[in-house]
Amino acid sequence: MSSFIDQVITAPNSKYLSKLANNRVVVFGGSSGIGFAVAEAAIEHGAYVTIVSSNAQKLADAQSRIVARYPDRGEYISSAVCDLSKKDDAETEIEKALDLAANTGPSTPGHVDHIVFTAAGSIETKPLSELTASSIDEAFAVMFLGGALVAKQASKYLRKSPSSSLTFTGGVNTYKPGDGWEVLAGLGAAMEGLSRGLAVTMRPVRVNLVSPGAVITERWERFGEAMGPIAEKFKGETTTGSLGTPEDLAEAYLYLMKDKFATGSVVHSNGGRLLV
Ligand SMILES: NC(=O)c1ccc[n+]([C@@H]2O[C@H](COP(=O)([O-])OP(=O)(O)OC[C@H]3O[C@@H](n4cnc5c(N)ncnc54)[C@H](OP(=O)(O)O)[C@@H]3O)[C@@H](O)[C@H]2O)c1
Repeated sequence: MSSFIDQVITAPNSKYLSKLANNRVVVFGGSSGIGFAVAEAAIEHGAYVTIVSSNAQKLADAQSRIVARYPDRGEYISSAVCDLSKKDDAETEIEKALDLAANTGPSTPGHVDHIVFTAAGSIETKPLSELTASSIDEAFAVMFLGGALVAKQASKYLRKSPSSSLTFTGGVNTYKPGDGWEVLAGLGAAMEGLSRGLAVTMRPVRVNLVSPGAVITERWERFGEAMGPIAEKFKGETTTGSLGTPEDLAEAYLYLMKDKFATGSVVHSNGGRLLV
């Protein structure tokens, strides 16, 4: 008997839910948080998904969680280790990850359809007086340098068509920076500029960015006992009175994969943070 996912994506009247069926989707940062939810959502839409991150154990755990949720989709999920903080040395691993993804599933090998980038290292805020060249360099290493190198390799693997996409991640902090968040605000702005530049250079491939507000993910574990009060503060800075979930944010990435007319766009999902 075919699975629920197969029934939905192969139904004769399935026009929207089948858009990603059998597509190859690669998620850099897919082992946790928002990227993990994007991977789950793409699997649920019938795609072949490769999750990529620096930690083999986290990848294996993430892959197991996906197989536990979608037991008949085991062959649709794969993973590759790639440490983007290694700068130039990361390129070989990026290429290997894309190569693995390009050879999954029944479609003609050699290309991927969509790349999502949610990877981010430990982006800590620091008082201005404590900034150093290496702390700034570290903040930019995974997201900006890694993102630009992924784009370089992606241009070899994404089919030259508006049906292909590359989606980066920024953050609402770029528009409403908190006290002490200046480097991270700059990093988000740099990601937006990179996306728009690549949308021109990589055309007709589409390049976009999702800008999340406060979204409760594994990243928040670093707050420890302060997590409760921080969550309440962030909720108070929205019109929805809520925090985002990775599952909410996954919808923004799905949209940018599916809308073949969207490029150079920034999609905001922040509970109204920009309004109040
Ligand atoms: N959560 C929020 O409130 C929020 C708000 C605004 C913007 N954002 C942005 O949204 C994006 C995703 O955030 P998140 O909360 O989902 O974060 P997360 O749960 O910490 O996920 C980050 C991902 O990046 C991977 N990663 C870390 N270092 C890496 C490296 N050196 N090489 C390759 N991959 C690496 C992690 O896996 P490994 O550890 O296995 O490498 C993980 O898969 C980030 O760009 C973040 O800045 C988040």
